[in-house]
Amino acid sequence: MSRPLLYAANWKMHHGPAAARAYAARFLELTSPAPGRDLWFFPPAVSIAATADAFARRSDIRVGAQHTHWESKGAFTGEISNGMAAEAGASAVLIGHSERRHLFGETDEQVAKLTVSALAAGLIPLVCLGETLSEREGGRTEGVVLRQIEAVAARVPVEAWRTIVIAYEPVWAIGTGRNATPDDAAQVHRLIRGELLRLGMQARVRILYGGSVNQGNVLALLAQEELDGVLVGGASVDPDGWAELVGVG
Ligand code: 13P
Repeated sequence: MSRPLLYAANWKMHHGPAAARAYAARFLELTSPAPGRDLWFFPPAVSIAATADAFARRSDIRVGAQHTHWESKGAFTGEISNGMAAEAGASAVLIGHSERRHLFGETDEQVAKLTVSALAAGLIPLVCLGETLSEREGGRTEGVVLRQIEAVAARVPVEAWRTIVIAYEPVWAIGTGRNATPDDAAQVHRLIRGELLRLGMQARVRILYGGSVNQGNVLALLAQEELDGVLVGGASVDPDGWAELVGVG
């Protein structure tokens, strides 16, 4: 595949610091940098430093936070700021993941504020979008995805999309074993690209697909030129499986 590919591992609530170090040691044994392939890891907050330290000598690997707050400090019990995540070794942050939107009530407005704050702190925002099953079945995929992009676009200058990475993750495909077909994914990616162009962003913005990606379906998904990579939960939790997945694309 000619375009550069990004493989992002979202560990979700797996791997404390000791497990993260063990994972990294095993992953380093199994892989070497490959041209045109970026590997990003999103460990839980407490494991960012351990993961970033363990991967420090690999220039193809970036570590990010799964969640931050938009304020830089203050009385926000349980939260961490972008600056704190950066100090621990993060250089990217997941924003608007469906689990944050649907389990923790994150709104489009908050997603936009988080994107602005991440950019201001020098972190790369990996902004997640996607419709629920009932939205898809109700023919509302396009409307939902465009609304989610426009909420961010209302607050960031058009040039910022050069830095932002987008992940299209249909909620019905996350952790369900039911992934979008490569055509379904490519169709929504085209919709997103069209909208970014309409907003004035000429450059190619990286758009990943996420939702039940595994070793068996990754090749067919990445055969779609619209996909710049994948954002993976379950199939990234084991280092052997993840090394295999990033090796087949
Ligand atoms: P799964 O790969 O487990 O479906 O999760 C996808 C996801 O939410 C990645 O952020």
